[in-house]
Amino acid sequence: MSENYDVVVIGGGPGGYVCAIRAAQLGLKVACVEKRGTLGGTCLNVGCIPSKALLHSSHLFEEAEKHFDTHGIEVSKPKVNLEKMMARKDKVVDSNVKGIEFLFKKNKVTYVKGAGEITSATTVKVALLDGGEETITAKNIVIATGSEVTPLPGVEIDEKNIVSSTGGLVLSKVPKKMVVIGAGVIGLELGSVWRRLGAEVTVIEFLDRILPGMDGELVKQTQRIFAKQGLNFKLGHKVTGAKSTKSGVTLTVEPSKGGDAEEIKADVVLVAIGRRPFVTGLGLDKAGVELDERGRVKTDEHFQTNVQGIFAIGDAIVGPMLAHKAEEDGVALAEMLAGEAGHVDYDKVPGVVYTWPEVASVGKTEEQLKEEGVDYKVGKFPFTANGRAKAMESTEGFVKILEDKKTLRVVGAHIVGPAAGDLIAEVVLAMEYGASAEDIARTCHAHPCLGEAVKEAAMDADKRAIHM
Ligand code: FAD
Ligand code: NAI
Repeated sequence: MSENYDVVVIGGGPGGYVCAIRAAQLGLKVACVEKRGTLGGTCLNVGCIPSKALLHSSHLFEEAEKHFDTHGIEVSKPKVNLEKMMARKDKVVDSNVKGIEFLFKKNKVTYVKGAGEITSATTVKVALLDGGEETITAKNIVIATGSEVTPLPGVEIDEKNIVSSTGGLVLSKVPKKMVVIGAGVIGLELGSVWRRLGAEVTVIEFLDRILPGMDGELVKQTQRIFAKQGLNFKLGHKVTGAKSTKSGVTLTVEPSKGGDAEEIKADVVLVAIGRRPFVTGLGLDKAGVELDERGRVKTDEHFQTNVQGIFAIGDAIVGPMLAHKAEEDGVALAEMLAGEAGHVDYDKVPGVVYTWPEVASVGKTEEQLKEEGVDYKVGKFPFTANGRAKAMESTEGFVKILEDKKTLRVVGAHIVGPAAGDLIAEVVLAMEYGASAEDIARTCHAHPCLGEAVKEAAMDADKRAIHM
């Protein structure tokens, strides 16, 4: 069977499904091919959503176990029912992925269940999940096939004892000892989940710091907070081998800069050293679509690959591997395909680590500004001086706002603290509108809100914060 579409999107993740819906909203005839059997991609099925469901449940458990007493709430010792916690997480995932199916129907996007392969600049052959084949012809093809776990040589993932994030979201019992390889976003989020639920967690990181790329001061404070919570860090070390037996895993660990190797034992090892673009089986060779030196699909600023009519978005291309970035790519491309203008500014994509406290960042770090020779002002405000944070017993962390002294524009913000992921949105908006710190400082913020810490940090850029 062959049908003619304006757009066929390969991959139903946040990049692909959003692109498909937006293109359909704009009157284009759209099909979306997805091989997983469910829509929502990595994010909804094995990424953002299940991890946040477990982060929330484990946070509530820790609150009940360690902090209720402070609030004068007396409960008997809480216990983890992991099966029930996992079932709730699965229900959350299920309702989210079904929601996308509903949105496809509502917007008249054709959902084709199967693996797509590009056979020419206008045709995609789909190996249908139910068996058989379908060829779709379309004026435009969008590659939105996402990313996969980066493997670590010598540490083979079996998704039982040695797991990737996917296995780390479905453990059947709380490990006694867990080693996380990589102190990036996944390592810290999932490491926190299992620590809260009772595991002794050690995070081994190649570099001398956690969360590479984030603002140095933010990271120092964050590491202190996590260490106080009980995460053990072994920085400046690399894992060079793993022996897995029924009773657990023995890792060989060496200092990154050379030195004596040691052995570390764990019940479960989580490999979280990054993700890489996924384009296997797409037929890019035959279609002549070029990849860059890091295996990403090469595109121009209009998401166009080197082959006319074939585009790419999301984790498969350049830019931060984040769901909201993939969505922005999807919307911008759909609008361009419909003859409108579209653009995504990767310098204003926020990044959030959903631990407690949360860690959130947008724009330039102090290190980057120094390196670029930008003369900048710093405004900082600690949550210890915010009334709402005190009322919540969640006073760890700070808001830091960076303003370019010459242009008087906010160029970066870095927050560790309660609800940092929500607070950063205000600064992203301010940056989109080219606001100064003074613009934020003169905006009325409701009291008592955590957002007042953002306002006060902006005031502090001119050394006129009131509550500090
Ligand atoms: P994906 O979501 O990977 O979707 C690609 C889809 O394409 C997949 O469903 C795949 O099955 C399908 N596909 C691939 N090849 C084919 C083919 N040939 N034919 C048909 N279908 C195909 N990001 C955030 O912003 N916030 C978070 O909190 C967050 N948490 C995360 C937690 C974890 C544990 C992980 C692993 C990731 C997390 N991410 C988070 C990252 C986020 O999931 C990705 O950035 C996002 O999913 C990328 O979207 P995408 O559409 O580009 O690709
Ligand atoms: P990451 O890139 O965030 O972190 C990987 C870490 O592993 C780095 O600190 C790196 O220095 C370290 N590392 C690399 N090789 C190593 C080695 N051999 N030994 C020890 N350490 C090593 O990657 P991560 O955590 O796997 O996540 C992948 C991506 O998924 C993220 O970059 C992000 O784009 C996305 N994600 C986003 C989330 C969010 O937005 N909250 C949550 C989870 C994932």
